[in-house]
Amino acid sequence: MAKEFSHIPVLLEEVIENMGLREGMTCLDGTVGGAGHSGEIVKRIGNGGRLFCIDRDPEAVKTASNRLSEYKNVTVIEGNFRDISILLPDEKGKIDSALLDLGVSSHQLDTPERGFSYHEDAALDMRMSNKGMTAAEIVNEADEEYLADILRKFGEEKFARLIAKKIVNSRESEKIETTGRLAEIVISSLPPSVRRKGGNPAQKTFMALRIAVNDELASLEEGLKDIFEYLSPKGRLTVITFHSLEDRIVKNFFKSLATGCTCPPDFPVCVCGKEPKGKIVNKKPVTASTDEIENNRRSRSAKLRTIEKVEE
Ligand SMILES: C[S@@+](CC[C@H](N)C(=O)[O-])C[C@H]1O[C@@H](n2cnc3c(N)ncnc32)[C@H](O)[C@@H]1O
Repeated sequence: MAKEFSHIPVLLEEVIENMGLREGMTCLDGTVGGAGHSGEIVKRIGNGGRLFCIDRDPEAVKTASNRLSEYKNVTVIEGNFRDISILLPDEKGKIDSALLDLGVSSHQLDTPERGFSYHEDAALDMRMSNKGMTAAEIVNEADEEYLADILRKFGEEKFARLIAKKIVNSRESEKIETTGRLAEIVISSLPPSVRRKGGNPAQKTFMALRIAVNDELASLEEGLKDIFEYLSPKGRLTVITFHSLEDRIVKNFFKSLATGCTCPPDFPVCVCGKEPKGKIVNKKPVTASTDEIENNRRSRSAKLRTIEKVEE
C-alpha cells in the first residue's frame, strides 16, 4: 500500500504573515509538496482569489490535487518552477504573492524507494521528478574530478577528494547501485576520527548528490528571477531555504533588487540610473522558534526571506 504523504509545513504562521495574504489575491506556491502551506493560503484568499501550485514531483502533484480538490480556484501543475513562463504563460505581472519552500519533502526522504536516504538500503535514485540522470548514474559515470567538485561545492565536504577517489576505485570492481553501498563507501573513505564524530558521515555526500541530480541551485537562480518578474506591483516573494548555499543565492538576489544606484561613491551625480526594484521585508531572515524545532527537527535550518516588488 502507498505510504501516506506526510510533511509538516515549516514556519507556517510566519509564511502566512510574510506573504501578506488578503481576500481576492492571486498566489503561487512553487513547491506545493503535500499542500501544507497551500491549504492555509487558499483559505485566506477566499473564493475570489486564485492559487497556482507547482511541483516537479508527480507524487506531490497527486497528493496536493487530492488535498485541494474542494477548491475550484486552485490549479495544480507538474513542473519545475524555473519554467514558470512555460507553465503559466498568461500570469506574468499578476501574481500578488509567491512562495518557494525549497529542498525535499519529508515524504520524499522517508520513502526508501526514492533513494534519497542513507537510513534504509534502496536503489540510488534521488530524482524529485523521476526524470533525468539518477544519483547511481552520476556516481558510476562521472569522472573523479567532477565528483570531488560536486561534493565540495554542494556538500561543503572537506574530504571530497578522498571520497571521490574511493567511489571511482570501488565502482571498478562493482557498480554502485544502492544507497547502502554508497554510504559504506563514503564511511570507509574517511579517517577513523571523522567516522566517529556525531551525525552520519555520509550526510554531506548524499545532500551534494541530491542537489546535483536535481540541478537545485540553477533552478533556484532562474526561478527567482522569473518569479520576481511574475509579481504584480507590490507583489511579494517569500522563500524558505534549508542550506547555506541556497540562502546565499536568495539573500544576494534580494539585495541586488533592493539596491538602487551602483555608481562609485566619488561620482558627483548618478550615471547608472539604477532604481531599486524591491524592498526587503525582514532585515534578518526569520527562523523557527524553539517550540517548532522541538516538534519538527527539519525546521532547525530553515531561513525565511521575503521581498516586496516596488510599484512601477
Ligand atoms: C519542502 S517541500 C514543500 C512542502 C510544502 N510546502 C508543504 O507544506 O507540504 C519541497 C517540495 O518542492 C519540490 N521542488 C523542489 N524543487 C523544485 C523545483 N525546482 N520546481 C518544482 N518543485 C520543486 C519538491 O519536489 C518537494 O515536493
